[in-house]
Amino acid sequence: MRGPVQPLARKEFLPFSRPTLEVDDIQGVVDVLTSGWITTGPKCQAFEKAFADYVGASHACALTSATAGLHCVLLALGLQPGDEVITSSMTWVSTVNMIEITGAKPVFVDIDPRTLMISAADAARAITPRTKALIPIHFAGAPVDLDPFRELAAQHHLRLIEDAAHAAGTEYKGQRIGSPGTSIFSFHPIKNMTTAEGGMVCTDDAALFERIKRLKFHGLAKDAWDRYAKQGAAAPMEVVEPGFKYNFTDLQASLGLTQLAKLDAFNARRAELAQRYDALFQEVPEISTTRPPAWPHKHTRHLYIVFLDIDRVGLTRDEFLAALKERNIGTGVHFKAAHLHDYYQRTGRYPRGSLPQTEWASDRLFSLPLFPRMTEDDVREVVAAIKDVLAAQARRSSA
Ligand SMILES: Cc1ncc(COP(=O)(O)O)c(C=O)c1O
Repeated sequence: MRGPVQPLARKEFLPFSRPTLEVDDIQGVVDVLTSGWITTGPKCQAFEKAFADYVGASHACALTSATAGLHCVLLALGLQPGDEVITSSMTWVSTVNMIEITGAKPVFVDIDPRTLMISAADAARAITPRTKALIPIHFAGAPVDLDPFRELAAQHHLRLIEDAAHAAGTEYKGQRIGSPGTSIFSFHPIKNMTTAEGGMVCTDDAALFERIKRLKFHGLAKDAWDRYAKQGAAAPMEVVEPGFKYNFTDLQASLGLTQLAKLDAFNARRAELAQRYDALFQEVPEISTTRPPAWPHKHTRHLYIVFLDIDRVGLTRDEFLAALKERNIGTGVHFKAAHLHDYYQRTGRYPRGSLPQTEWASDRLFSLPLFPRMTEDDVREVVAAIKDVLAAQARRSSA
């Protein structure tokens, strides 16, 4: 007699993401550690310049995170209570939290569930006399359709701020995200390049840039390197407005420089792995994949997101992910819709049902392991584990 069927498990846990840190990354950090200057300094300046050159931006300001960048940019726009900012609820909550923290009201438009992004046409319908800004989110390595957003912003005198946390190296119509306009990138460890934690505001607005530089460091006219280094001014600096302590360190900037030099290679490897997933999922009808956008672009495959057909399978997404974990496969959820989080539900502004496509996706999506050092065998094992969970569930349902 046959015993219960054992789940097909990998020997070792495969995390959904892992940073690619190599000898040059480590040596760079060690060099900074032994240099005598570890906080904001010459490495930060070099990284800001290198990143600005890479994306084609006129100005780049590094900060502790993309969240910090969003905070400074939104404050610098002078948002007031009662103002409205149009964005997507399919994002990491920090986009929405930073709008809320300024006192303005996040106004959500529904996504296209195939790309997980919002369109300018839908944003146009949400504009009111109180609308001050548009924040579309470049998603999972793909760009939003920017031209219609640019036209909409110009037509209604709105600020267009791009959440580019997922978009280092992404291109829209042959141009890298980051220029023109204002974009905010993230270098969190799961991102395509990392500085442990970190973010970058790129902008062609010189006044906005100066304001963000001040806001990120106490509201001082100059940062620590300008004050304490030999060439710095001797006189104490003036606080010109109250600001934060969001400054980036030379340790992080060193990682930024070595990682940036490898970003295109990392992205190319991600694209190969994603193609492999695409091919293998042709045979799994219970799983569907996101679609690349219809406009010309270069996708950097920050995340490989799939949807589980929960009605057909008879498991919730979270039950499915628990079963994958039993099989040593790590996953992520990008994202639970921001408006469904407890705080936003308690505001009473965004009842369930108000964003049907975002909620549909939020209940079904998950991100599979995808990072440059993964092998083709890893990809095969992820898909085999998914098939094994589906087969086990089918056996349960028919028992
Ligand atoms: C779409 C989006 N926006 C903003 C952020 C915030 O980035 P950070 O973690 O650098 O603050 C993230 C982080 O994952 C994100 O995914």
